[in-house]
Amino acid sequence: MADALPPVPPARPVFNADDRARIGALIDTALSSGALTLGPCGRQFEELVASSVGVPHAVAVSSGTAALEIVLRSLDVQGRDVIVPANTFYATAGAVVHAGGRPVFADVAADTLALSRATVEAALDAHGGDVAGVVHVHIGGLVSPEVPAIAALCAERGIFFMEDAAHAHGSTLDGKAAGAFGQAGTFSFYPTKVVASGEGGMIVTADERIADEARLYRDQGKAGFLGGEHVRLGYAWRMSELHAAVAMTQWERLDQFLAVRRGVARRYDEALADLPGATPVLQPAGSESNYYKYLVLLEPSIDRDVLKKELREGYGVSLSGEVYARPLHVEPIFADVAHGPLPVAEHVCAHHVCLPVHSDMTDAEATRVIDAFRAVVMRASGTAVTPASGTAVTGMAAPGTADTHG
Ligand SMILES: Cc1ncc(COP(=O)(O)O)c(C=O)c1O
Repeated sequence: MADALPPVPPARPVFNADDRARIGALIDTALSSGALTLGPCGRQFEELVASSVGVPHAVAVSSGTAALEIVLRSLDVQGRDVIVPANTFYATAGAVVHAGGRPVFADVAADTLALSRATVEAALDAHGGDVAGVVHVHIGGLVSPEVPAIAALCAERGIFFMEDAAHAHGSTLDGKAAGAFGQAGTFSFYPTKVVASGEGGMIVTADERIADEARLYRDQGKAGFLGGEHVRLGYAWRMSELHAAVAMTQWERLDQFLAVRRGVARRYDEALADLPGATPVLQPAGSESNYYKYLVLLEPSIDRDVLKKELREGYGVSLSGEVYARPLHVEPIFADVAHGPLPVAEHVCAHHVCLPVHSDMTDAEATRVIDAFRAVVMRASGTAVTPASGTAVTGMAAPGTADTHG
């Protein structure tokens, strides 16, 4: 019985038969026209994202990392400090360095795992020299209610505020979309993301100058697609028409994906409300997450690696990758810019897990995750085990989709 249950993988890109056919048709058009990069499909995708986010400009690029570096170059961080959260993916801080700036790591708030006005102020006052701006990251897809206050602080200090929205396609705060709160926002279409094209990224902005700069930078700094002088130190950061076909078809499904993901998250919220040893990170009022990740903070006494192994091997449930298991200020590559402990980031990185959420997750899969997670956490925290649904859950290990990229 239990062995017949299919495993729940950590992440699962969703391409139904209609979408695969549409992608095939779009790629066929690209191949038969010979327009393989920076063509009509990419432009249509840019228009779709710009209107979805509610900004006038979107510029498609080769990755979320490229999108970050292009914006940072356009904002000219050369030789200057940029505040970034300690709790983020390597690329957020790496892009600052590649753009010629110096990352200054700030601590995060325990309720959102993201920057707050207070943590940014602390970083500015304690460590900021010549600060150019702040990169905010919407961890797990949750837009913190602190975002407008951080943007206001940046405006007061005369520095830029930009969003690394790699996790936050379709997420909103008080109805405003992630990506629309600062001078620019960036998205990633890496395979684990809510909108996935294999590889790809997007810059969104209301600032025409940043959009123009981005178009220069993504295509080798050339003044024009069909030739022209090289006027910027650009790179091969274009999005191909083939990737645009995949990403656009995915973004067209975003509302449906979000409905499923939010339904799963409501079930997790209810099932974990009374669970000793584990506290879900709940959406604050006004914030509508896309649930790129469903985050749960564990009691420090619970060993995360043991818990994950038990879930995988005993119940066939693979948790998603952490966001993030280690804060950036402890990474060897950033040793020379780190400036001591950042206790909240260190704590949340060490003691959270992410329950799997897929854009086509079934009720049965969500039940399986809930029952397995409750059983393992209750055992780990020394509480009697009672599955929420009453279903016995054991099964085979999930082969899963690798999800270590954040
Ligand atoms: C917060 C964050 N920023 C940037 C990136 C980089 O995006 P990409 O892999 O598309 O370069 C990622 C993840 O992939 C991310 O999670």
